[in-house]
Amino acid sequence: MTRFENFINKFNENDWLKTAESLLPAIHAVDRNATQIWFRFYPLSLHKYLQMAEDKAVTIQKFVIQGKFELKDQIDSSHDFLYGHRFWKDVKDEITKRAGSFNDETADLSNEIKQIAKTIAAKVKVDESLLIGITAIGLMTLTQVGLEEFKNSDGETKKPQGLMSKSPEQIVSQRAKDDSQGILGFLKTVNKEWTVRYDESKENGKFKIMNDEEIASGAARDQSQNWLAQDARCGEGVIPVECRSAACGTCWIGILGGAEKLSDVASRERKQMKVFGYNQPEDAKPFLRLACQARAHGTVTIVIPPWNGVFGKKIYANVESVELEPATTSAAKLRETIADATSNSK
Ligand code: FES
Repeated sequence: MTRFENFINKFNENDWLKTAESLLPAIHAVDRNATQIWFRFYPLSLHKYLQMAEDKAVTIQKFVIQGKFELKDQIDSSHDFLYGHRFWKDVKDEITKRAGSFNDETADLSNEIKQIAKTIAAKVKVDESLLIGITAIGLMTLTQVGLEEFKNSDGETKKPQGLMSKSPEQIVSQRAKDDSQGILGFLKTVNKEWTVRYDESKENGKFKIMNDEEIASGAARDQSQNWLAQDARCGEGVIPVECRSAACGTCWIGILGGAEKLSDVASRERKQMKVFGYNQPEDAKPFLRLACQARAHGTVTIVIPPWNGVFGKKIYANVESVELEPATTSAAKLRETIADATSNSK
């Protein structure tokens, strides 16, 4: 291991989350939620647990992990929902360079991120607020995949398309805007319709939902594409779902914009997020939700993680006795795992 790897490997998941939080004021609004969401999509504690597991395949099965959860398989793409993604090649090059010259293992993680971001910002001639989030993500990616793998990916990214090709300010303002309900919109109540955007790089990366409808229900009505062919978890629309009752953890999503236009987190969603292991912030309207529980009262922009699982009890040991409501899923294995995760014995 290089001195730089020794340095970044000193920090645990909490240190990273605290560092990311302390950097938020310095991160441009376009990537503020996105950065925090990314750190929750790729939890360091889960990565370490799986690395240490006696039989990784068995553990993955025990945690009913489905989909693409490892950063090593998506070094250049896991962050494609960030504005800063377009600078990835420069971020990767600068981090690699820094890893070669680093010699101060007592350095401060947050300063290190800021310094690297500043150097890249000068090189690509944009404000460093657009680089801090993606630089922090770059360092965490290096932590999880190791320097060799990190260096070996080609770092190429696609040219930004759709809304993602606009300026950061235009993206932020578009996310905040609600759909017009027409001239007589003020008379509408239940029949108001909102847009849920799930891919800002595609013109058609969106679907409509009714006012006060759960995000997952709106997603299921959109049959415009063969979702199953794109992701084996997507039997009913672009968002993977199983139980629709906060029992399986399949439908977790990040909220890039419009979190304040969703219903408050109810106690069942709150408890179950802990069971699943998803690190949902304690706020009433956080940026990490279950799509089968969150109801929309305005336009929202979401990001769908490429995997799901149930690992809270084993990884974070923060699951107390949780009353388990009957799961409606047909997956017996899933029911067993959730029952295990919510029992009192570890
Ligand atoms: S579909 Fe099972 S938790 Fe949402």
